[in-house]
Amino acid sequence: MKFFMDTADVESIRKAVDLGLCDGVTTNPSLIMKSGKDQKTVIKEIAKIVKGPISVEGVAEDAAGMVKEGEEFAKWAPNVVVKIPMTREGMRAVRMLSEKDIKTNVTLVFSASQALLAAKAGATYVSPFVGRLDDVSQDGMALIEEIMDIFTNYEIKTEVIVASTRHPIHVVQSARLGAHIATMPAEVFEKMFRHPLTDKGIAQFKEDYAKSKK
Ligand code: E4P
Repeated sequence: MKFFMDTADVESIRKAVDLGLCDGVTTNPSLIMKSGKDQKTVIKEIAKIVKGPISVEGVAEDAAGMVKEGEEFAKWAPNVVVKIPMTREGMRAVRMLSEKDIKTNVTLVFSASQALLAAKAGATYVSPFVGRLDDVSQDGMALIEEIMDIFTNYEIKTEVIVASTRHPIHVVQSARLGAHIATMPAEVFEKMFRHPLTDKGIAQFKEDYAKSKK
């Protein structure tokens, strides 16, 4: 399973890359805004440290506009993936970009039918948002199960990026369901490391080691 960092914060990305645990990055306009930098600058900075796919999102609403934005993003780094919203125009753009060998990540996916449409349109990745579904009392992980069943039935090549993860359990459940990728904010990545019994055990062993040396 691949881990993507869902952030445009270069320092958080660098920390995960240094550990050898970052397989890619996803961004969106809100994350870019939080970074305090302009999109092109920050994506180029990220591309210097990340070899895996970096998803970049535009704001165009029509297919021609999305393709134009996508072609521009693709010039910034060879590993750029263009994020396309799950709309009719978006699906036209996915088809057009894939004909130009530009990779796409269909975003804002909230149902299995949307995921299936994105896959049929030729998306490289599809991003179902589990946390935002949980927020409105729908089971986000049930959607991942549905999508994985469908994609497995038809050996669909489109990879599933579990997005809008809010805690480590989302990541673990994604892994159990065989999702290809989980993209996570730095806080979720950090939480994956933690267990109070690990800290307690380290402290205990340190203490006992010191005692045994006397
Ligand atoms: C996905 O690629 C999005 O950037 C992201 O996961 C959205 O998460 P949020 O619901 O926490 O904003």
